[in-house]
Amino acid sequence: MEKTIEWIKTGKNSGFSRMIDQIVIPYEYKKVDIKTSDEMYNAIKTMIVRGAPAIGIAGAHGVCLAAIENKDSNNFIEEVKKIAQYINSSRPTAVNLIWAINKQLEILDKNSDKTNEEIIELLVENAIKLEDEDIEINKKIGDFGATIIPKGATIQTHCNAGALATVGYGTALGVVRSAFKNDKTIKVFADETRPRQQGARLTTYELIRDGIDTTLITDGMGAYFMKKGMIDVVVVGADRIALNGDSANKIGTYMLAIVAKYHNVPFYIAAPKSTIDPSIKTGDEIVIELRNKEEVTIINDKPIATDKVNVINPGFDVTPNELITGIITEYGIFKPSEIYKLFE
Ligand code: MRU
Repeated sequence: MEKTIEWIKTGKNSGFSRMIDQIVIPYEYKKVDIKTSDEMYNAIKTMIVRGAPAIGIAGAHGVCLAAIENKDSNNFIEEVKKIAQYINSSRPTAVNLIWAINKQLEILDKNSDKTNEEIIELLVENAIKLEDEDIEINKKIGDFGATIIPKGATIQTHCNAGALATVGYGTALGVVRSAFKNDKTIKVFADETRPRQQGARLTTYELIRDGIDTTLITDGMGAYFMKKGMIDVVVVGADRIALNGDSANKIGTYMLAIVAKYHNVPFYIAAPKSTIDPSIKTGDEIVIELRNKEEVTIINDKPIATDKVNVINPGFDVTPNELITGIITEYGIFKPSEIYKLFE
C-alpha cells in the first residue's frame, strides 16, 4: 500500500518527509519532499497534507526535521521543543497533531542522557513506527466498522477520511474498504464538502480508483436522498472527540448528523483512539479553526462572489453525542457516552 506520507531515510541523521500533494488532486498526482521544519509548518497550514491522522504523522516528521536542523546545538532539546510547538500551531482542531508531536517529545525527555545523533535516530525510528501503526489501526477500524454496514448499503460520507487523510486505508473510508471486500454491491454517496471540496476532489478520486461505486452529491442534497430512502448509513471521520463523545469534524458534519437523525439513518464516526482528547469533557472545549475568506469566495482562481461580502469560514463543527449512533475505533464500536472507557 502506498503511503500518503512517509519518512525517507537518506543516511544516518539525514532524511526528509515525502507526501502526496493533496492540493493538486484530481488535476495532478505528485509527491512533495519536505526538508525543513518551516516547510513542514507550511505544508500542514496550506493543506498539502491534511486529515487528522496524516497531519499527526506530519507533526512527528516535523520534530525529526527540527532535530536534524539542530544536531550541533548545545541546547538541542529546548530548540527542538520550541519548533515542535511552532509546528503544532499550524492547525488547531485535529488533536492527532499534538498527540503525535507529544509521542516524539516523550522520546526526547526519556533519552536526554544520549547524544543528539542517537536521539535523532530514535525520533526517526518512532516516526516510522507511528506511520506503520496508523495503517494497522485503520484496518482494525475498517473491520469493526464493516459489521454495521448492511448488505448492498449506500453509505454517505463527508469530507475525506480516506487513505489520503491517513498514512493509508482511511478511517471512514477504511470502513467502506473493509465492507467492499465482502460485498461488491455497496455504494457510496460522497458529498462535495465546501469550501475546499475534499469530498469531490479526494474521496471520489480514491474510491473510484478502488473500483467502488461512488456518486458525487452537493452538500445540500443529503436530506433529499435520505427522504427517498436512498441512504442507509452515514460514516464520517473526526478531528477531535471529547470524553462525552461530542465529535469535531469538517464543517457540515453537524448538519448532516441532524438530517440523519430526522430520517432515522444511523450516523457513525470512525476514528482512532488518538483522535479522542481525554483532557476535554465536552465538545464546547474544542478550538475551531477559522480559515481565510478566499476559500469561500474563490473557486478555481475565479471569484464567485463580490469581494465586498462578509465571510466567516470555520473549518470544523462539533456534532453533539446524542446525534451519534456509535464511534468506531480500533478497539471496537462504542456508544458516544461510553467512549471515555478507552481511558480507564
Ligand atoms: O480540513 P481537513 O481536510 O484536514 O479536514 C479533515 C476532516 O475533517 C476529516 O474528516 C478528519 O480529519 C478525519 S480524517 C481520517
